[in-house]
Amino acid sequence: MAQADRFVEALGEIARGANSLPFRLLAPMAVKAAAVALGVRGCSLLLLTAGHKRLVHTASYGLSDRFRAKGLVDAKRSLQEVTEGQPVAILDASTDPRMQFPELAEQEGIASLLGVPVKVGGETVGSLRAYSRVPRIFHDREVDFLSTAADILGTALGRERWQRQRQGKSPRGTGLSPSLVRPVTFAHPSEEEFARLLDFYEIEWLYEPRSFPLEPGGRGEMFTPDFYLPALDLYLELTTQAQSLLREKKHKVRLLKALYPEVKIKLLSRRDYDRLLAKYGHGPLARAKAEGVGPVFLGRERIARRVRELAKELSQRYQGETPVLVGVLRGVFCFMADLMRHLSIPAEMDFMSISYYGEKSPAVKITKDLDLDISGRHVVLVEDIVDTGMTLRFIIAHLNRRHPKGIAVCALLDKRVRRLVDVSLDFVGFEVPDEFLVGYGLDYREKFRNLPYVAVLKPSED
Ligand code: IMP
Ligand code: MG
Repeated sequence: MAQADRFVEALGEIARGANSLPFRLLAPMAVKAAAVALGVRGCSLLLLTAGHKRLVHTASYGLSDRFRAKGLVDAKRSLQEVTEGQPVAILDASTDPRMQFPELAEQEGIASLLGVPVKVGGETVGSLRAYSRVPRIFHDREVDFLSTAADILGTALGRERWQRQRQGKSPRGTGLSPSLVRPVTFAHPSEEEFARLLDFYEIEWLYEPRSFPLEPGGRGEMFTPDFYLPALDLYLELTTQAQSLLREKKHKVRLLKALYPEVKIKLLSRRDYDRLLAKYGHGPLARAKAEGVGPVFLGRERIARRVRELAKELSQRYQGETPVLVGVLRGVFCFMADLMRHLSIPAEMDFMSISYYGEKSPAVKITKDLDLDISGRHVVLVEDIVDTGMTLRFIIAHLNRRHPKGIAVCALLDKRVRRLVDVSLDFVGFEVPDEFLVGYGLDYREKFRNLPYVAVLKPSED
């Protein structure tokens, strides 16, 4: 068949697919059709993450796992078709300075490549790339063909984003995230649940986007962390299976850190994970009945003293200003009331309330928003306890959209060892260990808020 006929046939196939398939099925079909029509070794669709920092192989054909696993191409250092929105052809991939991983291209047997931008409404959201085994100069009609295929994919992607947003499925800011259109097969149900939790807090994630060779030279055993969170540039590994695997995983994480010092990774054990879910009333620990509370952990006097100190620090910091204290209901009400009464400066206050994970909605909902206008004002976000940091990150992003003059965070308790999302706390009452705490406003399923002190929750034996 003549090349022109092959192009018409392939574009017809991709266009029909765009009309009938969800994007995650269209993409693999389209990259294969494009590769076959061009007569190249492989083809790949790379999409930008929500922060536009990375490109992720979303669908590919004819490429080895190792090549795809290089994943997470740095968008800034990648071919400029992504930054400039124009097609780019590379004749010699092994020497061209525009290649981010020339050695991998060589191992893969790639001589030349062509990249064209994928656009949605004029905005570049990714790249469609063709890889040739033999050195090849791509002709205009070939560039036009790949660009047209990319246009169809962009149109389909735009429609998918619109549909998802209309159905309320896509959290804000992640409308075109590769994680939404990439076929994901989770190895374990806990991973799927974890992904839902991240979706809920509007934290973009990618499942197993990159494999790290654990021996210098890139051969031998590979380690593929479960999640990557582009906005935090953080990898997460969940070890929810047998505890015996934990040691092995810990060893791998140590190796990884030694070989790739720039990579940030956190390991979540079964226990960490169960406790995380229990907080939202899910998982095995949530079913355990609380027997009561352990001995006093922070007594009323100690709390009162520390709250007075915090109020003094705040009063000094905001001398001559009238900050707005914002509390997130409901745990914060005791702390907020005491803090407020010890301020020596004028202050206003307001409250917000948000839905928690597991309350049906797939994303956080603000169930009560601010009544005061905080634009141009100093805001002090008052929190009872900061655990993973996911709630705080969400609230801060929300408040920032109102253009306050500044936001400082004042938290009574900081459970720093459990932090997943780095948020900076400006005023902290006490750093606390990884225990579930109740009292002084903090609850376990709405109980124990009325205790005048803070205590550790004691789960029942069975
Ligand atoms: P984060 O989003 O994981 O930081 O969760 C913060 C919220 O979880 C807090 O505002 C509390 O409502 C709740 N929380 C976290 N740890 C505890 C605890 O030990 N006792 C009671 N509530 C907690
Ligand atoms: Mg709270």
